[in-house]
Amino acid sequence: MINNQWYAILSSREVPRGRPVGVTRLSRRLALWRDATGAPHCIADVCCHRGASLALGRVEGDHLACPFHGFAYDASGRVVSIPANGAHAPVPPNFRVASYPCRDEHGLIWVWNGEQGEGLPDIPFFDELDSGFSYGELSEVWDVHYTRAIENQLDVVHVPFVHATTIGRGGKSLVNGPVVRWEGTRMTYYVDNVADEGQAPLRPDEVENPERLFSLQLQMPNIWQNRISEKLRVMAAFAPIDDEHTMIYLRFYQKFMGIPVMRQAVNGLGNVANRTILHQDRRVVLTQLPKRTELRMGENLVQGDLPIIEFRRKREELMRKPARP
Ligand code: FES
Ligand SMILES: [Fe+2]
Repeated sequence: MINNQWYAILSSREVPRGRPVGVTRLSRRLALWRDATGAPHCIADVCCHRGASLALGRVEGDHLACPFHGFAYDASGRVVSIPANGAHAPVPPNFRVASYPCRDEHGLIWVWNGEQGEGLPDIPFFDELDSGFSYGELSEVWDVHYTRAIENQLDVVHVPFVHATTIGRGGKSLVNGPVVRWEGTRMTYYVDNVADEGQAPLRPDEVENPERLFSLQLQMPNIWQNRISEKLRVMAAFAPIDDEHTMIYLRFYQKFMGIPVMRQAVNGLGNVANRTILHQDRRVVLTQLPKRTELRMGENLVQGDLPIIEFRRKREELMRKPARP
């Protein structure tokens, strides 16, 4: 995992009020619950008493109580009461588990993977999706590291092959560019796939006015959007489970249908289309070896793979970054 990043790990609807949930994310077992105000909290899901899963426990006010002997935890992971010792007994400071700063924004639950303290940065999101859009969401687990799942969305070369019957119809197999632009940790890539009529592909610096082209964006470390049009977007979050599994949340966002009942129907149809396309990808991506990628891993990449190369470079750079000041 990249240090000092907000990772989208769950859909907001998966963390209800009044009941904890347990998940594996970022290769850790985590317990999440909402306090009395509805704010989510996230701590390690292994009780410091005798190792039970806290996610099987109960929400008591702002606290999470272990199902085994009732130790109650606050949001910082500290035990605040030990029932067997009596309500007024002090709790030694070593009675605690790891905690992770946690937020609920844009319909997703985010955890901070890194050093804690004051002044954590804002969560970077595609903010335009918060105004006027509605969405439908689907999710599924893929048996790959999240780098492979993300790279599949950065792959402009695969479209006429994997999606020959859907979004890749027309056999536009020749890849001009693509043009990649970074703003901080956000990549925008412009796609210019064309029919092969014997010409050589344009180099990225030969593609004129890339802004007129179709574009997609990756926001490190794990969200992506396809800017199909002003009123239609596909967004995905790739939540790392462990080195060999990723939970994909895929959303169809639209604002062309304003009538509330019709909105849901349109979003549902959008999901059906998204699932079909996703499963065309899944069939091939699940066969890729190794299951995770690195900057230097001996693959034979081509010019059209530029967004993937840029992603690997940025990831490597962020992994090597020194700790927060
Ligand atoms: S194992 Fe959690 S309170 Fe005993
Ligand atoms: Fe695809």
